[in-house]
Parts: sequence; C-alpha cells; structure tokens
Amino acid sequence: SPHPAWLPPTTLARLGDLTTTLDIPPHLADHPVITTLRSEITHAAHNATTTEHPGRASATTTTSRTLTLRLTPPTGATNQPASTQFLGDPHDDAYTLTTTPDTITVTGRTPNALLYGYFALLRHDLTTLPPTSKHTPATAIRMLDHWDNLSVHPVMGQIERGYAGDSIFYTNGAVRENLTRVADYARLLASLGINHVAINNVNVERDAARLLTDNINDVARIAAIFRNWGIRTHLSVSFGSPMSLGGLTSNDPLDPQVRQWWADTFTAVYSVIPDFGGIVIKADSEGQPGPFAYGRTHADGANMLAEALAPHHGIVHWRAFVYNHTQDWRDRTTDRARAAYEHFAPHDGTFADNAIVQIKFGPMDFQAREPISPTFAAMPHTNLSLEFQVTQEYTGQQRHICYLGTQWSEIMRFTFWPTSNPHTTLADIPVSFTAVSNVGMSAYWTGHPLAQANLYAYGRLTWDPTADPGDILTEWLTLTFPHTPAATRTTLHHIMASSWDTYEKYTAPLGVGFMVSPGAAHYGPHIDGYEYSPWGTYHFADRDGVGVDRTRTGTRFVDQYPPELADQYNNLDTCPDELVLFFHHVPYTHVLHSGKTVIQHIYDTHFEGVDKVLDYQRTWDNLRDTIPTAVFEEVSTRLTEQVRCAHEWRDQMCTYFFRKSGIPDTHGRTIY
Ligand code: GCU
Repeated sequence: SPHPAWLPPTTLARLGDLTTTLDIPPHLADHPVITTLRSEITHAAHNATTTEHPGRASATTTTSRTLTLRLTPPTGATNQPASTQFLGDPHDDAYTLTTTPDTITVTGRTPNALLYGYFALLRHDLTTLPPTSKHTPATAIRMLDHWDNLSVHPVMGQIERGYAGDSIFYTNGAVRENLTRVADYARLLASLGINHVAINNVNVERDAARLLTDNINDVARIAAIFRNWGIRTHLSVSFGSPMSLGGLTSNDPLDPQVRQWWADTFTAVYSVIPDFGGIVIKADSEGQPGPFAYGRTHADGANMLAEALAPHHGIVHWRAFVYNHTQDWRDRTTDRARAAYEHFAPHDGTFADNAIVQIKFGPMDFQAREPISPTFAAMPHTNLSLEFQVTQEYTGQQRHICYLGTQWSEIMRFTFWPTSNPHTTLADIPVSFTAVSNVGMSAYWTGHPLAQANLYAYGRLTWDPTADPGDILTEWLTLTFPHTPAATRTTLHHIMASSWDTYEKYTAPLGVGFMVSPGAAHYGPHIDGYEYSPWGTYHFADRDGVGVDRTRTGTRFVDQYPPELADQYNNLDTCPDELVLFFHHVPYTHVLHSGKTVIQHIYDTHFEGVDKVLDYQRTWDNLRDTIPTAVFEEVSTRLTEQVRCAHEWRDQMCTYFFRKSGIPDTHGRTIY
C-alpha cells in the first residue's frame, strides 16, 4: 500500500478520543461527502483504539470532548452574484471552528465546508485552538491538472513531465480497472481543500481525446470517486475534436456546425456526469490546434466552448501559454516573453463569464526564477487562473530536494503596484489556482518522499496565500514524521526551507533561465542546448556579456508592466539582482547591488550551491537512526544524484563563463 503521506493513522487517532455528532439536515444526510465524512469519523475512532502507542503521548489526546459537525445550509433565496453560478463562492467552502473546554464544533454551509473543517482538526493542536475562528479560502477554485497520458508516449513516457512512476488513472491505453489509488489521492487532496482536478494531459493525444466522447463512462468512474471527496472532474480537450472525433470539415469556432457539435457533446457528457467541472484547453500552443487556423482569436475559441458548457454550469480553463515555438533564433525582434500578453490582453473584457484564462506565473515556462507574468495586471475584466507547476520539471525532477512553497509564497505576495497599490497582491487577482500535479504510482506518491511537501504546500497556499511557507513546512513535517524526534524535524526544516535558494544557486543564474538539456529531458546543464533552437529561450552569452535585453532598447517587454514596475525593471540601477539577466544584457564586469560582478556572482553561487547540497547530504546521513529506514534510503539515493548533478552544473557553468569571459575567479578555485 502507498505511503500515507501526511495522513497516517496516528494523525486520525488524535480525533478518536472525541465523541462525535454529525448534525446534518435530513435532505443532505445521504450526500456523498457526508457519507465520506461519516466513514472518516468511524475510521478515526477505530484507529484510536487499535493503533494507540503507549509512551508516545503526541499520538493521542487524553482529553475527552464532544465534536459536533454541523451543516447549516442557507435558507431562502441567497443573494449571490451572478458569477458564482459558474465560478462558485469561496464562502461555500468556509468552516468555523468553535471550542469550549468540553466541545469542538465545526460549522459550515456545505458538505465540503464540513469536510475541510474536519481535516483542519487533524492539523491543529486541539488544545491550543482559539475559542472561535473562521477559515475561508482565497478562491473558489483550487485545482490540479494531470499531464497523464493513457498510454506510454514514445518520448514523454506515460506522464508528461512526470517523475513519480505510472499514472494512477490509466494503464495500457485505458482507465484502470482498479482505482483505489485514485480514492487515496482524492482523500489527500480533500484534506488540503483541493476541489477540482483535470485528469489528462493538455497535449491531447487521439486516445485521450475520446475520453470526452466514446469513453466518457470511464471518466464517470473516476468522477464518482472524486465526487465523494467534494472534487469535480475536468478533462483536457483538443480544439481539433470536431474534425478528429466528429468527422466535421472544420474546427472554426464561428461555424454553426462546430458550435452544435460541442453543444451536443457536452449535453452527452453531463447526462453521464452531472457535476462535470468543465475543460482545460491548450490551443495554438506547441503544435496543438486552435482558432488561429481560421483567423479567429482566442476569445472566439474560448467563448464558443463556454457557450456550449454554460447550460450545464461548466467552465473553460483556456491556457494563455501561446507563443511561437518555431522561431528563427536569428530573429531578434520576436520575444517569447511577450507572447501571452500580446495574444490575450487586447481581448480583456470579451471572455464569457464561465471562461477562465489560465496564465503561467511567469512569462516563460515554470523556471526556478522568472518575473511575474505582466498579463495578470493587464486583464482586470477577465476571469484569470494562476498556474504553477508542482511537478518539478525545471526544479530538479523530484531527484533534487526543492521545496517550492517558498517560491509560490513569494509569487503570490508579489505586487504590480509597489507604491500606488501595495496591498493588492498577485494572489488577489485570480478566481482560480491551477497547478500540474506531481503524483504517480510511486510508493511515495511523488517519487522523492520529500516532494510530498510540494503537493501539501500547494494545497495550503491556494487556501491561504498569506500563510507562511515555513509554517506550512513545519505542519507537513509534524504530520508526515509523527514519531520522529522534534530535533530531526527541525533539521529537515533547515534543509527544505533553503532548498529552492540552493537549487537556484547551482543552476541558471540571475533569472536568465533554461540552460537545461533540451527536449524530453529538461534535466541537468546544457548551457547552449536551446541557444540556436526555435523555442525562444536564449541567453545571448558572448565574450563581453550575457542576458536578454528586454528593456526599451531591446524587445520592450518591460512596457507590458504597469509603469512603475516597467521603469524599475527597465533601469539597471533598480532592477532586482535576481532578475537582472532576464531584463538586461550586461557585461561580465557589471557590478550587482550585492557588490559582486556578474562573473564573480556566477562563480560564487555555483560553488555555494554545491557546498549546500554536500551539507544536506552530510546532515541527512546523521539522521539515519531517526528516519524510517525505507524513507531514509530513498532520499539518500536521490541525494547522491543531486550531489552529482549539482557538481555538473557548477563545473559546466563556471568553465563555460570562464572560457567566454577570460576573467578568473578571484578565489582561484578549480575551473576546468
Ligand atoms: C512545458 C513542458 C511541456 C508542456 C508545456 C505546457 O513547455 O515542457 O511538456 O506541454 O510546458 O505547459 O503546455
């Protein structure tokens, strides 16, 4: 059986000493989520009596209290804004915890709210809860996208950018017969408040396209499992479906026959899955079909699908990851970073109420460091989704320790208006959070056991973007390693909290990005791997300097930002060090705000990064006796690879830039 992640039975046991009452209006007594909750409580009580560990006081509470879970649906007509009809209302998921010395009460107006309140009790120390507290998520939609293929793709494997084994959904070209892993996964997600999941790759192969039509009954089996945990199921669909599945002669979004095909298709879907969430679509992107072939805009495409979904309250997540991936590297006028804004911002205000434009956090592609996409500030009249990548495509592929809660928190707290509107953060802008999931059939769910923390942090941060990522890590460590000495958890916290910074140090410097081996790998250094490629990801290193001029003398990308920020990035004196090579092409002798030259910064950070990883390895070795053996061995193996790979990055980067610049390291370290 798979690793219990952050929900081991001992966690549940903490609730077992309570006498529990479910206070549910009769008409909701059989709601699937209430049925789930009932069985959770029964199991919790069972585990309390059967898994008690004498002498491990932290495993159980000794107080005897009454726990009441009370559902209080609103009565009469509610005055909800029209948009909530499609997008949901975060208040529907909100729960209130009230405690007295003898009682704990969880109240909420929906079954999901009670489920979230129940799982919150597993996280909290029951003895230190305040008398009353209300917990409301930031957005109504908190979603994970799976890039799972039905079959093993010849280049990408079964899960595109997956590093945790096979798909939990599919095997041999079809939905699995045995879906117990999906049920376990749904429970993990529900414990974090995740309430939407898209179950197939955005690059939709032909067999996957059929999930929407011929194989919808298989999707219904998955949806039935997720439904029990308050999660709605979505599909990635191909814009080319009217032709490829429907036999039509066009996919033109303004063609009445095409529109009818989508309307009929969704009617059929909803007759089988009445709470189907909707669709995710990658159009005109990296070879996927889209509206451009018909001279139509992405608003035309999204609105066609939105119209077909609207009668069923379904939503469209339409991805803004649209750029020219067949660029001539000689062409210095095209800048991939500009693409999302150029394709989408002019259409602000024209997208349907049930269409959401899904934007990656940065203008490029989930790099360990890049600026925030300016498109978020440019579409105030459009529903937007902020997309992250929990799977570690560009951050060590679950072979390296890289806790991303730190990065996501920084991103969510970013503001586009540092002086004029500093309190509006990026997290205030979207109506939905989305991310690519990092799980598979791996015994640890995530390949690297410590990568579970990223899934956990994504869930917790999408509920509360103001939460401290260090606190989230503490919470995860406490739940995941309940029997491990507190000192060990503190040591792990030190390692993981610094791990994103460490990863950035030994990989591409100062926001320039990529420099990874191209194609399916995207792993390990290959400094010029993308330099003369069509993908638009260049660093322009020559004998004098490095970096991309995106200022007003270059591609003018800076002017996609609100003026205050545009000026800040445009000016070398005010551009933050960590983004300097994203925005500027500078000489190696350029002095950063840190006081170091660019070249010395490259040398120093790469040596520091490797030293940090060696330090992680030594520290981890000392934990041998306090970590469960299997976990210890698994992480040790991966650390060996992280050490090797970090050395490779260091030596290639230092050597490359020494050869280009001819400037020696002031510390005289070995450069090859
Ligand atoms: C990245 C990734 C692709 C993926 C794409 C996307 O470019 O390497 O595998 O398809 O993102 O987000 O659609």
